[in-house]
Amino acid sequence: MLAQSTSVRLLFTSLVSSLGRETATRELRWMKQALTVPGSPGTLPAMMQRRLRGEPLQYILGTTPFGPLDLLTRPPTLIPRPETEDWTLRLADMLTPTSARPLSVLDLCTGSGCIPLLLCHLWPPGSTRAYGVDISQDAIRLAVDNAVRCNIPSFGPLSLTQSSQNVFVPLLGDIRDPNLFKRVLPPFDVITANPPYIPKREYDKLSVSVKNYEDPVALLGDLPGEEPRDGLTFYRLIAQILRQKGMLRDGAIVALEVGHTQANAVEGILKSVGLRNTQVWKDPWDVERVVLAHA
Ligand SMILES: C[S@@+](CC[C@H](N)C(=O)[O-])C[C@H]1O[C@@H](n2cnc3c(N)ncnc32)[C@H](O)[C@@H]1O
Repeated sequence: MLAQSTSVRLLFTSLVSSLGRETATRELRWMKQALTVPGSPGTLPAMMQRRLRGEPLQYILGTTPFGPLDLLTRPPTLIPRPETEDWTLRLADMLTPTSARPLSVLDLCTGSGCIPLLLCHLWPPGSTRAYGVDISQDAIRLAVDNAVRCNIPSFGPLSLTQSSQNVFVPLLGDIRDPNLFKRVLPPFDVITANPPYIPKREYDKLSVSVKNYEDPVALLGDLPGEEPRDGLTFYRLIAQILRQKGMLRDGAIVALEVGHTQANAVEGILKSVGLRNTQVWKDPWDVERVVLAHA
């Protein structure tokens, strides 16, 4: 016991040097709290050592808040970010589905399932049927586990017949695969995506905490060996999906998260496939973060 408290003290001194006293104190409190939950992630010294090696706190704690939800986080699936939480809450406020007029949602590049799960949680029971597509098996497993954690059923196929609950179906698939869309039931009222969008040259400059732990496939907007290198590849792929006949219901909303310099170009890509009334939303840090458009 004495040995452990000495090692915690020493590790805390190192955490203060690397994170600053305020952050180190706050993180230590969260680690201690995480240890009080059944199935907690190891011992306090082990958690502190992982943090000192640069591992993101959310992977060490095993969960992260996302609106009112507390979602599971596991490497290498992308940790949901506060900017994504912000626009998903705004989108949820903007629309008012009901069980009599349910909305059908498709979330491309779903990762942990954070976006559709938050919509399913906030909208009234029986008003939402959502799919989440991701190429990563780890991500789909996590999305299924998160659906269970949030008490949202995640079985399909989904029909638009009335249901008393909201439903979220995670699907393993590549958005480049045309056959993928035979497994979902269009038309959609809402299509959301936070796709990989970081250009390779920016990715190379990201912190070790991101590059050593989060899946590069979740971040890199440039596909290996392909031109151009502007990080916009996924928006062009999504535009091809949106233009498919019958994919969008009349008046449907598309909401795409973008990188800090990409809003203008993404607006252009969406307009080029016939979407209209585009808008750009800024995030709480005043960065252009989401492009919205209507069918
Ligand atoms: C930026 S992360 C977003 C995850 C989640 N939506 C969020 O906001 O936290 C992008 C996700 O796209 C997935 N992805 C990458 N390429 C894909 C592809 N070709 N088809 C489907 N999903 C893909 C990655 O596995 C990753 O989970």
